[in-house]
Amino acid sequence: MKTHVFLIASALTAGLVAYVVVSFLTSQINSGDTVVVGDEVLLPLPSKITRLTVEEAILLRKSIREWRREPITIVQLSMLLWASQGIVEDAGFGWYRRAAPSAGATYPVEVYVVVGEKGVRVGEEEFLKAGVYKYDYMKHSVRLVKEGDVRVDLWRASLRQDWVRDAPITIVLCAIYERTTGRYGERGIRYVHMELGHVGQNIYLVATALDLGTVAIGAFYDEEVAKVISSARNERPLYLFPVGVPREPHRATFEELSRLYERLRRGSRATDLEPRGDYESEIRIHLAPDS
Ligand SMILES: Cc1cc2nc3c(=O)[nH]c(=O)nc-3n(C[C@H](O)[C@H](O)[C@H](O)COP(=O)(O)O)c2cc1C
Repeated sequence: MKTHVFLIASALTAGLVAYVVVSFLTSQINSGDTVVVGDEVLLPLPSKITRLTVEEAILLRKSIREWRREPITIVQLSMLLWASQGIVEDAGFGWYRRAAPSAGATYPVEVYVVVGEKGVRVGEEEFLKAGVYKYDYMKHSVRLVKEGDVRVDLWRASLRQDWVRDAPITIVLCAIYERTTGRYGERGIRYVHMELGHVGQNIYLVATALDLGTVAIGAFYDEEVAKVISSARNERPLYLFPVGVPREPHRATFEELSRLYERLRRGSRATDLEPRGDYESEIRIHLAPDS
């Protein structure tokens, strides 16, 4: 009799423990399609959510360095990551074609995201935990690799460019060169850099279409950035993209562009525009990357 009671009690306790563990691990943030399972965040799946045509996105794309103090949304983050390295097709034989081309489909790019405190809105009052996340293209998810707001560290590592500190998120593109040089030797190095350009342009265009802004950042201390994001030794940080809601929405039309071309075709190059302030600081950065 005693044995029976003991067995039933043990079974009930085990059941209860299992229930608590499973409900903790599958605790879902009740917001659209975002599911948080432990340290992994299954992102809302990509879909057609912007109205801009590709030519409008190209016209409107520009580097943005000033943001509103607003988060981006988890749907926007999902689209940015998908555009950088997400899957677009099951091409067969275990090959999943990605959003950007890759020499010999060697896919050297690994994507990290630095998320600031209340940087990504998940629900009405809910935000993604601040920290560093790594993108998993197969599951279209991100996994927390380091908890806490590390934007100030990233700002220091990127020559104190304020737009890195102030953006709600920064996408950090890393590359594992060996994946490509293993097939193409030395030439693979240039292929990796070309590929980063494709990915970067996707990020620019999708950010533009989502009414967000971004700027490509090439000036930073590689080792410092690697430390901030806790990347593996063979994952070399190459390109940063802080993303946020632009302080000033950028407007441009094809009509204005036609007038500009007409003027240029007449041979008149003078403009009455003042040089932009941010451009000057940027020139300084490029001239003195070690200052
Ligand atoms: C490889 C590369 C590195 C860059 N690095 C920086 C950078 O470290 N900081 C910055 O503010 N802008 C950087 N930029 C942005 C350029 O300054 C910007 O694209 C250029 O001024 C043209 O302006 P637009 O992007 O608005 O057309 C970089 C751009 C590229 C392509």
